[in-house]
Amino acid sequence: MPFSLAPACRRVLVGAGCFVFTTMSLPAMADLPPIDARVETLLSRMTTAEKIGQVNLVSRGDPIDGQLERVRKGEIGLMLNVVEPGEVRAYQAAARQSRLGIPLVMGLDAITVFRIAMPHPLALAATWNPGLVEAATRAVAQETAANGVNWTFAPMVDLSRDPRWGRVVEGAGEDPVLASAMAAARVRGYRAGGLATAVKHFVGYGAPEAGRDYNGAAIPASELHDRYLPPFRAALDAGSETVMAAFNTVNGVPVSADRRLLTDLLRGRLGFKGFVTSDYNAIGELINHGVAADLAEATRKALLAGIDVDMEGAAYERHLEAEIAGGRVPIATLDEAVRRVLRVKFGMGLFDRPQPQMPPQPAEAEVRALARDAARQSLVLLKNERETLPLTPATRRIAVIGAWAENDYDQSWWGPAGLTRPATETLLSALRSRLATGQSLEYARGFGDGCGYEQGDVAGAVETARRADVVVMIAAEDCDISGEGTSRAYLGLTGAQQGLLTALAAAGKPLVLVVATARPLALTATEPFTAATLIGWYGGTEGRTAIAEALVGEITPSGKLPMSFPRSVGQIPISYDGLPTSRPPGNDRYTSRYIDEATTPLYPFGHGLSYARFDYANLVIKGSEMSTQSGQIEIAVTVSNTSQRAADEVVQLYVRQKVASRSRPVRQLKAFEKVRLEAGARRTVTFKLNSSDLGYHDDEGRLVIEPGPFDVFAGGSSTASLSGGFGLTGPLVIAEPR
Ligand code: BGC
Repeated sequence: MPFSLAPACRRVLVGAGCFVFTTMSLPAMADLPPIDARVETLLSRMTTAEKIGQVNLVSRGDPIDGQLERVRKGEIGLMLNVVEPGEVRAYQAAARQSRLGIPLVMGLDAITVFRIAMPHPLALAATWNPGLVEAATRAVAQETAANGVNWTFAPMVDLSRDPRWGRVVEGAGEDPVLASAMAAARVRGYRAGGLATAVKHFVGYGAPEAGRDYNGAAIPASELHDRYLPPFRAALDAGSETVMAAFNTVNGVPVSADRRLLTDLLRGRLGFKGFVTSDYNAIGELINHGVAADLAEATRKALLAGIDVDMEGAAYERHLEAEIAGGRVPIATLDEAVRRVLRVKFGMGLFDRPQPQMPPQPAEAEVRALARDAARQSLVLLKNERETLPLTPATRRIAVIGAWAENDYDQSWWGPAGLTRPATETLLSALRSRLATGQSLEYARGFGDGCGYEQGDVAGAVETARRADVVVMIAAEDCDISGEGTSRAYLGLTGAQQGLLTALAAAGKPLVLVVATARPLALTATEPFTAATLIGWYGGTEGRTAIAEALVGEITPSGKLPMSFPRSVGQIPISYDGLPTSRPPGNDRYTSRYIDEATTPLYPFGHGLSYARFDYANLVIKGSEMSTQSGQIEIAVTVSNTSQRAADEVVQLYVRQKVASRSRPVRQLKAFEKVRLEAGARRTVTFKLNSSDLGYHDDEGRLVIEPGPFDVFAGGSSTASLSGGFGLTGPLVIAEPR
């Protein structure tokens, strides 16, 4: 985190000095005098109507002709969902023909797919490999930019610890350090591939009460700063040009009308200089929230709060002129919003390249290779009793059960509509092509439909299983129950899937369960029947092939969970980094526990097995003390691959502050590194922690770095047992909010 010693703090707290946040640098958006001068010249020539056009973001019209005319009149400044190159050219040509010739920003939800699908973002987070995620994201951006789109509504960096919320598919899970690494990697990737980014949804959209999409969130200031803001900071530090505001209320106020969040915090404290767009019709929905009587009031509240751009709300275009004329909204506020939009447009180079940029498509083979690598590294092996996996040639007869094995849909979620994408190999074909001599595969569909809703020929599937040495059952989280608007109250396997799994037990054969899911599920009911469980996510174009590779041992799974998998819905929200309680869970009734469920998740954050074996030893902490003011500590751990198989491992470092003024989480991830270890190899991984990494935020949102004892844990999951300790010494340091 960027800190510097402030020579003169507004309030001197304990100690000789205090620390403040340094202003973050936004590469393309930093104050660039030539751009500012051009913006001012242009702004001075604009009518109020033209200014309102620049803050108006609308979807592609159907047909487009009427809309082209509106663009020519300067009524639209930004578009979404125009993905066909000919249409992009037509729209940009219309913009050039407008009185001031201001180019359009062309936005799209280019998340992890345009043509070739990468695994969805939560699966990308499961790779714990920011470099790979950056490269995969760059490829998606290149494919998107090749069609003339220049802005993506991504990355979504909303932290969430509630798998009922279907939108966890699009985030990086429950931990701020992992999510920040992924946020930065994805912003870098999109930008390198030619897209400006809209980091979203500022802030707190990922914490809806009861996991119900769009529901309000209650987030104390300390948590907001400790958990929910770091991924946004990381995205802004990586240069995100724009921000999308959240739909929901946070602490009772809809974010789209909350000046404290959108202006005081985002601009004042985080130093953001780009523009803020609303989410889809979020301004209009202020009426539903009950904070505006009509669209005119919603318009006023949103703009004054800091929403620069109206996405599909038709609020600014209908009401802003009258609000300004009536003196209810100062023209200066609109001017500032327009300045921000124009600054981004200049920064993107749109004025300097009159024709839309359409760089050539990246080579399909290269993008596929990245998609394969990402899919491989995202696979998480939850359990593997008696080394059931990988299937070796000694396993003569394999039964594959479950209709999803025939599915060739890439499961990419939220790709551009209407475009044909390359075929995805089915799991069946990927497995069949990998059979060794003398091995056979028999397939039974098991369901009446392709999504596992309807029961099929269960008896036939059980007979198929009986004839096999090993049974591989493929279950999927339905075909379309992840993403926006897909909150669930039950998190077991859907439809007829659990029933089939249970029936297969009658065959008495070792059962491998492959689960294609885009969120953590409560798999407790599957446990008694499975010898091994592999989470395949929604793996994208290369996803099924990667699963087949893992099943037969061509590759070794190395993914780790970015979110805890609960035992039951009643445990949610659940995360590894909760606070200790006055009465830790125990056997006694009067402890913090459930009477009918364990308190631990079924599979914790950071968990993921390998076909290799890793041992952790020699946790060495260089210097047993460091200072609150400027200290740094080095923590080294040695990881050995004690197996006969080369593999990747994610080395994770956790800390706990044992005594402080506030109760501190039982563990917090502070650093991680994915390493490759050949069979029998060993490696020492060294992490550096700054004192500022050990701080927390108080109720005023100030960073507190407090002396005290810390425990350290290192290993391959959040339950790592290798431990040590050090002390943080010196004065209490409190950084003023800025
Ligand atoms: C989503 C946004 C998305 C927008 C445009 C909204 O419903 O919440 O994340 O970018 O639609 O498609």
